[in-house]
Amino acid sequence: MIIGVPKETLAGERRVALVPDAAKQLVGEGVEVRVESQAGVAAGFPDAEYEAVGASIAPDAASLVAAAEVVLRVQPPSDGELGSLRKGQVLISFLEPLDRLESVQQLAQGGVTAFAMELMPRITRAQSMDALSSQSTISGYRAVLLAATHLPRIFPMLVTAAGTLSPAKVLVVGAGVAGLQAIGTARRLGAVVEAYDTRPAVKEQVESLGARFVELDIDAGDAEDAGGYAKAQTEAFYAAQREQLGARAARCDVVITTALVPGQTAPLLIDEASVRAMRPGSVVVDLAAAKGGNCACTQADQDVDVDGVLVLGHTNLPAEIPAHASQMYAKNLVTFLKHLLGDGRLELDLEDEITRGALLTHEGAVTNEMIRAKVEGNA
Ligand code: NAI
Repeated sequence: MIIGVPKETLAGERRVALVPDAAKQLVGEGVEVRVESQAGVAAGFPDAEYEAVGASIAPDAASLVAAAEVVLRVQPPSDGELGSLRKGQVLISFLEPLDRLESVQQLAQGGVTAFAMELMPRITRAQSMDALSSQSTISGYRAVLLAATHLPRIFPMLVTAAGTLSPAKVLVVGAGVAGLQAIGTARRLGAVVEAYDTRPAVKEQVESLGARFVELDIDAGDAEDAGGYAKAQTEAFYAAQREQLGARAARCDVVITTALVPGQTAPLLIDEASVRAMRPGSVVVDLAAAKGGNCACTQADQDVDVDGVLVLGHTNLPAEIPAHASQMYAKNLVTFLKHLLGDGRLELDLEDEITRGALLTHEGAVTNEMIRAKVEGNA
């Protein structure tokens, strides 16, 4: 069986789906691994490192994809790349199925067996295959470093002969995987950190990282769905949240927002007045920028200056730390592939919770019920 890894083509994407160490593991499973020339270079993995572990290098994407039975990618394929996939071929990648219903339809019509990493069930057994978590971990870390670099102040408290420097105050809104990593990173740099999430279950986790959990005077009700994700709140709730969080943001040097509700645009949690109320030099890092942003001033992939407050809307933070982001993503893929493999071949057990959960399209149909309903509603 041939597994092919094309070079990512999205502008700014520096990750690669398989790092050499992960390729080695697949070669050890009796699989042939082919990597497009230069696919790993932007992440720090030259072709020679793949060859050294027994993978081969393909000169271009077209010949690689034509030969491969399984194609591994990071980003969803472009329209042209979708067209080069064939019936029966297996694609494993982030596919943004909720945002790309036409691509989903095209994959189904083309008879491609597509697994979307976003659909991986968030169960204990699948933790090592959970690419949303692995990449969010990198995003949370990177967000803090971006803020620290742009802030005209340092993060830790320092008592020196030249005077005492007070620690940076950081507010993290949304304490999921990225938010918790941001809290931990900001704490390690010495900042005073507070965090808020609508899911009360995270209070303990926030506090265990040395941050203060912000209690707002609004009732989030039954804030969590069966999958552990946040439920959408009413507009009245968000308005009250904006007012109360805004007052806190104004007292902070850094605000990092990560709040998402699956399948929806990001809730608007920091309004423009709150940004303007922050001290000049303060930094907002909006990790929800790709989904419309949690901050009213966010513009995707732009650095916006609002009266001296910098609002950063980077939409692909994992690509900014490509070596480790790729290492983690590749580990997720290899663990998933090993789960699918039997005797060096793919054996799809559609009764299995993990296999069925991540499967998006198979044998001409959209297999994921939620996405199928959306595709049919869209047709
Ligand atoms: P996410 O990226 O969908 O959302 C980020 C955070 O924003 C969440 O914590 C959410 O509660 C919060 N949020 C939504 N609306 C908000 C609002 N109005 N104000 C403040 N915060 C708001 O979530 P993520 O990071 O992907 O994970 C969500 C949860 O999924 C985890 O905390 C965990 O419970 C579960 N999970 C389980 C895993 C497993 O068991 N394998 C692995 C990873 C996550």
